[in-house]
Amino acid sequence: MTKVLVTGGAGYVGSVSAEAFLEAGHDVVVLDDLTTGHRSAVPQGARLHVGSYGDSATVTRLLATENVEAILHCAARSLVGESIEDPARYFRDNVAGGITLLEAAREVGVDRVVFSSTAAVYGVPDATPITEDAPLRPINPYGETKRAFEGALLWYARAYGTRSVTLRYFNVAGATHALGEDHDPETHLIPAIFGAIEAGRPVTVFGGDYPTPDGTCVRDYIHVADLADAHLRAIEATARDDERTARGAVICNLGNGGGFSNLEVLAAAERVVGHTIPHEIGPRRTGDPPVLVASAARAGEILGWRPHRPSLDEIVGSAWTWRQGHRGGYSD
Ligand SMILES: NC(=O)c1ccc[n+]([C@@H]2O[C@H](COP(=O)([O-])OP(=O)(O)OC[C@H]3O[C@@H](n4cnc5c(N)ncnc54)[C@H](O)[C@@H]3O)[C@@H](O)[C@H]2O)c1
Repeated sequence: MTKVLVTGGAGYVGSVSAEAFLEAGHDVVVLDDLTTGHRSAVPQGARLHVGSYGDSATVTRLLATENVEAILHCAARSLVGESIEDPARYFRDNVAGGITLLEAAREVGVDRVVFSSTAAVYGVPDATPITEDAPLRPINPYGETKRAFEGALLWYARAYGTRSVTLRYFNVAGATHALGEDHDPETHLIPAIFGAIEAGRPVTVFGGDYPTPDGTCVRDYIHVADLADAHLRAIEATARDDERTARGAVICNLGNGGGFSNLEVLAAAERVVGHTIPHEIGPRRTGDPPVLVASAARAGEILGWRPHRPSLDEIVGSAWTWRQGHRGGYSD
């Protein structure tokens, strides 16, 4: 049993991960400021502390009083468009706040960190599937701030012995029985499709003239429960006697290794809901690369991880099932 602090544990990825940690027998403390998360998403059995990971006194006290052994750092500002309009907020929260968290951890002797990074660190890749050695050329402040924090972890490993695993997620989707995706604004395609159905308006697909087979963007979707499984494995890999993180920070992509176009996702949603879903092709969104597909080979080699729910219909179906019980999303 490990005592784990999950930052952002009231959010989508953090809540599902907290749930998986509890099911695996770990002790879970959640630190969340509830800016984009939901109190009711924090799983039963996890202790919620409302506050910011960028608040040094709060974090230091929490780590010490809860005897935290490892941190899963999921909390972040993560809207690409907002990051372009207000980069200061992203550097302040994702970078400066992140360093505050690492410093508090160092002060109380917590040296195990798993970090939620993103495919956005690669920018527009030269080749797919993308391996971890591909050049990091973020094209927006969101990706830039994630790259900066990754860099901090690399140097903290060398200088202070911080054991870390950075996981670069591609598109996370799907739901567990109790927990699903609810962002406001919703920039992710699958919940946006369901929101459009509920509102009785057509789905907007951003861009129909990309150099892809059907002209729409291609993305690599990973089931959120598979992601939670990777988090569990990553936390184990940071244990004091574990060879994998003894020689420095580990970085792994997480994806299915295959991509689906926006129109293919829409077709899967039509199969799942059992009727056609009207859509319109809108303008491209700034900074959307045509194709983002991960090579997840390294996650297989180092973490022994592979996706168990790779089917698009299963991913979309789980999200729809959750949505049926949570029309419009969480109540808070
Ligand atoms: N969802 C995806 O498809 C995806 C893809 C790639 C990477 N990521 C990364 O995964 C992580 C989780 O994403 P998500 O979709 O669950 O986002 P989310 O917005 O649902 O969850 C983030 C949580 O962090 C909390 N939070 C934000 N700032 C905080 C602060 N300063 N202190 C404490 N809590 C704070 C929010 O209230 C929220 O509960 C993020 O770091 C994101 O960049 C997500």
